[in-house]
Amino acid sequence: MKFKAVRVFEEEGRFIPRIIERSMEDLPAGDVVIRVAYSSLNYKDALSCTGNRGVTREYPHTPGIDASGVVVESTDSQIQVGEEVIVTGYDLGMNTDGGFGEYIRVPASWVVRKPEGISLKEAMIYGTAGFTAALSVYELVEVVKPEAGPVLVIGAAGGVGSHSVKFLVKLGYEVVGVVGSEAEREFVLSLGARDTISREEADDKSGKPMLKQLWAGVVDTVGGNPLSIGIRSTKYGGVVTTCGNVAGGGIPEMNVYPFILRGVRLIGIDSVKCPVGKRVDVWKRLSDSWKGENLDRGVLEVGIEEILEKVKKMLNSELVGRVLLKH
Ligand SMILES: NC(=O)c1ccc[n+]([C@@H]2O[C@H](COP(=O)([O-])OP(=O)(O)OC[C@H]3O[C@@H](n4cnc5c(N)ncnc54)[C@H](OP(=O)(O)O)[C@@H]3O)[C@@H](O)[C@H]2O)c1
Repeated sequence: MKFKAVRVFEEEGRFIPRIIERSMEDLPAGDVVIRVAYSSLNYKDALSCTGNRGVTREYPHTPGIDASGVVVESTDSQIQVGEEVIVTGYDLGMNTDGGFGEYIRVPASWVVRKPEGISLKEAMIYGTAGFTAALSVYELVEVVKPEAGPVLVIGAAGGVGSHSVKFLVKLGYEVVGVVGSEAEREFVLSLGARDTISREEADDKSGKPMLKQLWAGVVDTVGGNPLSIGIRSTKYGGVVTTCGNVAGGGIPEMNVYPFILRGVRLIGIDSVKCPVGKRVDVWKRLSDSWKGENLDRGVLEVGIEEILEKVKKMLNSELVGRVLLKH
């Protein structure tokens, strides 16, 4: 049987993505074959599409780091044909053919059964960004209660940040978002944040090892200096989560005092190899108590013929909202 897939080819040092027909035999070895319904567009996909060896070592390759769909073949006794499932992270779309193809074949250990309260589409509206946000909030709410004070979300208008704002608001937290523009401010306020501050307002040049205690918790999605300031302005006993590095891989001016004098906890978030028990628990919450209204607001659904144009836009920072690939 033939199916459609994005395939990125390396030709004379250039990386050229094309939409081609593939056969089931072309898929990698694995226990479970899934007819993909949806995949979400992530920055990693855009990098994989354009030959970034940090994401994908071997070409030709089919990107797509997440997928939801229906099982059509399974050699695993726990996973039945006809089940609706979700796959995010692991090696999907990195060096294993991913969700930008109509079918994927993956190890059974990567597969999570879709909870009843969400559709296949909603699962990918969350996608990797929503799942990462949920992991961040999951860690924070274990320790920080709503009455402890405001939670700062750094990169609040981004994929991970905006989902984090929504979950925290839904759970009754007062949220302040760090934003880069007036349009982002309006967007983040529309998600229910109490307030926003600009990157300049969030900045601090004093170099002090600890700053005024402002936040009960911080969800950081950018790393670098904003993370450092977030940690140094977290209140006694607060929690800071971090998952990204768009503002830098280092933590400038960082020191031990927020940790040893204020008991601040810094928690790293990894969605790729997150253990299966936590995965299932987080998807369950996303399908019931954390699920908000109007999940599809700001989501653009496209077919495979349009996805490469959206990849280009993402790389040129011209994309507004989230893009969902529907097969
Ligand atoms: N650990 C994991 O498992 C995991 C999973 C998913 C994603 N990530 C990482 O998480 C990060 C965020 O991902 P995403 O999908 O949310 O990306 P995104 O949609 O591009 O959002 C990033 C946000 O950060 C903002 N930003 C950039 N530089 C900033 C700075 N110096 N200070 C404050 N805000 C800044 C951006 O604003 P502008 O648009 O105005 O520049 C944007 O709103 C990325 O580094 C990604 O690789 C990690």
